[in-house]
Amino acid sequence: MKNRKLLLENVHIPGIETFDVYRKNGGYRSVEKALKTMTPDEVVEEVKKSGLRGRGGAGFPTGLKWSFLAKPEGVPRYLVCNADESEPGTFKDRYLMEKVPHLLVEGMITSSFALGANTSFIYIRGEFMYILHILEKAIAEAYANGFLGKNILGTGYDLDLKVAPGGGAYICGEETALLESLEGKRGNPRMKPPFPAVKGLWGCPTVVNNVESIAAVVPIVNEGGDAYAQTGLGKSSGTKLISASGNLVRPGVYEIEMGITVEEFIYGDDYCRGIANGKKLKACVPGGSSVPILPHYLVTKTAAGEDRLMTYESLADGGFASGSMLGSGGFIVFDEDQCIVRNTWNFARFYAHESCGQCSPCREGTGWMEKVLNRLEHGQGNMRDIALLEEINKKIEGNTICPLGDAAAWPVAAAIRHFRDEFEWHVNEREISQKRNYGLITQPSVEA
Ligand SMILES: Cc1cc2nc3c(=O)[nH]c(=O)nc-3n(C[C@H](O)[C@H](O)[C@H](O)COP(=O)(O)O)c2cc1C
Repeated sequence: MKNRKLLLENVHIPGIETFDVYRKNGGYRSVEKALKTMTPDEVVEEVKKSGLRGRGGAGFPTGLKWSFLAKPEGVPRYLVCNADESEPGTFKDRYLMEKVPHLLVEGMITSSFALGANTSFIYIRGEFMYILHILEKAIAEAYANGFLGKNILGTGYDLDLKVAPGGGAYICGEETALLESLEGKRGNPRMKPPFPAVKGLWGCPTVVNNVESIAAVVPIVNEGGDAYAQTGLGKSSGTKLISASGNLVRPGVYEIEMGITVEEFIYGDDYCRGIANGKKLKACVPGGSSVPILPHYLVTKTAAGEDRLMTYESLADGGFASGSMLGSGGFIVFDEDQCIVRNTWNFARFYAHESCGQCSPCREGTGWMEKVLNRLEHGQGNMRDIALLEEINKKIEGNTICPLGDAAAWPVAAAIRHFRDEFEWHVNEREISQKRNYGLITQPSVEA
């Protein structure tokens, strides 16, 4: 059975958020090991061997990203932790930082050492002010105990770690917008290349990594990259934090070992324990609001009839025709009573609100999609609107500086692909659709 826990195993120990309890339970071993017995390049090598893929959504190999970091003489390098976590359906970083803040601080120290950074930042979502205070307390404890500051553990390595709050904009989770914001500017994404590894914070080489990616460096250094690569499955090594929400008996944040089946995750006793209130599964968005929705018959099985697994590869099996993405692990479940048009409109409202406005296809397109979905949902749409949505989608996809445009377009395209009959129902049954939205009629049940 695959059920190793590498990040949240100590989460229920009382006082684990304090330095003393965290340390007594094996905390900061990775810092001691890395700084006292390894070179920075050896740490990078272990991360490469581990097969860790970035947990912020794109799944890019972390060790490879680290090896791209430019190292010009006399120029500072930075590590920036992306704790913006604004993707609807994703709330795992928040949990980790709140419950085990020292795990992130430890990961930041070990990772900064590997990258040769002497100043590092945790950029945290503006709404997470209470977590900012938790992190600042953990950082102060780390300074007081000689794990931060000058000459850490007498090894000659210096590191300052700062927490910087954002202003609460989703776009500031995109790594280059984040860097702009950290520099004190409006959070507009930058053109790439140059990538942050060459020209990042204040024009210096920078690595941006997700909270969970940085936390995973701790068990990787403690156990070794090879041992980490043995957990999980194939190219989806290690464990993954999943934020499970929606119509589940037991929603919450779970640390899963990658490779368990989606069926086990939804229905298993150790995980979500099935669909709430005895209802049937209708659909699932497995990786946060930006990834394609899967209809019930593609959630636990692929189109080829194989078991769908909780891995990057299996969730993407079938491409966009019949697959989705693991993304940031925001696993949203819909029961038979949920309206896909209403939900798609809800997501579209979010993207229209959060588009930074820099690229016309995204600025205009997200607004148009929101308007069209709004009228469909409220019984004022027509069949042409469904085709119009598909057209707008194509105009946005791939035509913007950053992937927010794609993130807005993909869920709409997938919803129409798999639930066209529901969109048509909203047109054909305009009257019912209108009344339903004034709370007069409940959502028609769809056979699942
Ligand atoms: C609109 C948008 C929002 C994003 N929000 C986040 C976020 O909140 N947290 C995060 O880690 N990555 C987010 N990303 C991905 C980052 O750009 C980047 O890929 C990630 O921080 C890299 O870390 P990783 O390699 O450890 O995954 C976002 C991307 C886009 C396009």
